[in-house]
Amino acid sequence: MKETIIDQINILRKEKNAIILAHYYQEAEIQDVADFVGDSLALAQWAAKTTADIIVLCGVHFMGETAKILSPNKRVFIPDLKAGCSLADSCPAPEFEKFIANNPGHTVISYVNTTAAVKALTDIVVTSTNARQIVESLPEDEKIIFGPDKHLGDYINKITGRNMLLWDGVCHVHAQFSLEKILDLKREHPQALILAHPECPAYLLEVSDHVGSTSSILKFATQSLNKEFIVATEAGILHQMQKDNPDKIFIPAPPEDATCACNECFYMKMNTLEKLYLCLKNEQPEIFVEEEVRVKSVKSIERMLEISERYGL
Ligand code: 13P
Ligand code: SF4
Repeated sequence: MKETIIDQINILRKEKNAIILAHYYQEAEIQDVADFVGDSLALAQWAAKTTADIIVLCGVHFMGETAKILSPNKRVFIPDLKAGCSLADSCPAPEFEKFIANNPGHTVISYVNTTAAVKALTDIVVTSTNARQIVESLPEDEKIIFGPDKHLGDYINKITGRNMLLWDGVCHVHAQFSLEKILDLKREHPQALILAHPECPAYLLEVSDHVGSTSSILKFATQSLNKEFIVATEAGILHQMQKDNPDKIFIPAPPEDATCACNECFYMKMNTLEKLYLCLKNEQPEIFVEEEVRVKSVKSIERMLEISERYGL
C-alpha cells in the first residue's frame, strides 16, 4: 500500500512540477519521500529559490506561510492545515503590537515560529540557526524586543551579552523535557553527550554539551567522534541522525509526563504520507496570505535571508 502511495506521489509531483519540502520533525516516511529535508531556515531558503510551480511544505502552518510570503506566485500546500505551533499561538499579533507600542524605540526581532501577522510587525525574522549572528549584526547598544520564545531569547542574551526584552512564550515540546530523567539517562550512559535545542529551558541547556538548531544538532552528531547522544529536541530528528550515522546511538530525551509523548510535536505529526498524497492530488489545503500582510512581512524575512547569506548560513 505504501509502495503505491509513494509511486502516486512520484507521478503527481512530476506531472505538476511540485517540490516536496519537509522539516526534520516529520514522520520518517515523509522525510524519505521529500525532495529536501531541512531546518526552518533551509526550508525558507528553498522556498525562495525553487523553480517548481507548487510547493508542498511538510511542516507546520508558519512554515507554509513563510514559503508563500517568499514565493507569492507559487501555490503552497501543507498536508494538514490544522498543523499549528504552540509557540506561534503564544504570541497573538494584537497583543504583540501592544507590547511593541508599550516599549517604543526597540528593534523588533521575531523567531520564524510566528504568524504572518506577527512577522508584519517585525523588523528582522530569525531562526535558531541564525539568531546569534543576526543579533550580533546589530549595534551593541541597540534596544531589541525578542519574541516569542523566552528560552531562545534568554539563551541568545547570555551568549551575546545583550539584554533583549523578551516576550513570554514557550514551545510545549521543548519546555516539557525532564531534567531529572535526562540526568538519570546520563548516569546510565556516562559517555553520552547531551544535545539540546535552544527552545529548551536554561537549566537543561546548562547541562548540555551542544546547543543548536535541528541542523546544528545533526551536524554536531555527525562530526563528533563520540558514539552516544541524548537528544533533547523533537524525536523526528532521530531519523536523519540515525540514517547519517548508522553506527552511533541516539537516545531521545524523555518528557516530564511519561504518559504523554510530549517529546513529539503533536502538530508536526498531524501530517501523514496519505495526507501528503491527497494534498498533491487534490491541490488542497492551500496556504493564502493577505497581500497587505505579505508585503509587510516579506521585508523582515528577506532581511533575515540577506544577513544569513552574508554569514554563509
Ligand atoms: P529548527 O529551525 O531548529 O529546525 O526548529 C524548528 C522548530 O520548530 C523547533 O521547535
Ligand atoms: Fe512549534 Fe514546538 Fe512544534 Fe516546533 S516543536 S513546531 S516550536 S510546537
